[in-house]
Amino acid sequence: MLSRKGSRPISMLTAYDCNTARTIDEAGIDMILVGDSLGNVMLGYENTLAVTVDDMIHHAKAVVRGSKEAFVVVDMPFMSYQTSVEDAVRNAGRIMKDTNCQAVKLEGGAEYADRIRAIVEAGIPVVAHIGLTPQSVNALGGYKVQGRGDEKAAKLLADAKAVCDAGAFAITLECVPEPLAKTVTEQVAALTIGIGAGRYTDGQVLVYQDMLGYTDGFTPKFVKKYADLHSVMLDAFRQYKEDVANRAFPEVGQTFK
Ligand code: KIV
Repeated sequence: MLSRKGSRPISMLTAYDCNTARTIDEAGIDMILVGDSLGNVMLGYENTLAVTVDDMIHHAKAVVRGSKEAFVVVDMPFMSYQTSVEDAVRNAGRIMKDTNCQAVKLEGGAEYADRIRAIVEAGIPVVAHIGLTPQSVNALGGYKVQGRGDEKAAKLLADAKAVCDAGAFAITLECVPEPLAKTVTEQVAALTIGIGAGRYTDGQVLVYQDMLGYTDGFTPKFVKKYADLHSVMLDAFRQYKEDVANRAFPEVGQTFK
């Protein structure tokens, strides 16, 4: 996985529990991300800021139990690495030791290169994450496309080079114009894994609830919906409610003699 640049595109999906990880793994998806999107899609928070290292470890352990082949990456949550290089190494080490995952991911560019370098020197593979970095949603002024305009595009490219030089083996590019993501992919040795970054990155990642249509809320433009799970579940739950009310469930076949 660490040297797949230029070969077939890499597929990655998020997972937060054992059963989903098992299904993703069975489908042959290359990588699983235990994202701190956990906060939004599993825990009902408005953003990712409240997610803790303990939350990540709890869910990542379940995901690792469910994955046989997939390469599992675990997000470092807000304030687990921003505070200092020491905190970054300590928390990355805890995540690796407790979960048995294969790599950690952290948000930020050149300003966090020292954290990435120290974690990599401790023997822990790192995925960087630049472009739209949800942990900085308040500083970015919302969930917007990043790297538009010459100056911002140059800064994003410089960030990609800095995290790659610091030792990140892959870079998540979130909500970046397609031509810029293509340039980054051509100019850095690290694998680029895009989400809302167009067609030319080395791989793609999506939040699994988004691509399954699991929630009925807002769906970002970059998501392709492969199913409408929300409707399937809603219909099943309504049918069950009706069956219970009408004594149509359980039937003889579901009872013990
Ligand atoms: O937390 C997450 O799910 C992520 C993806 C959006 C890449 O970081």
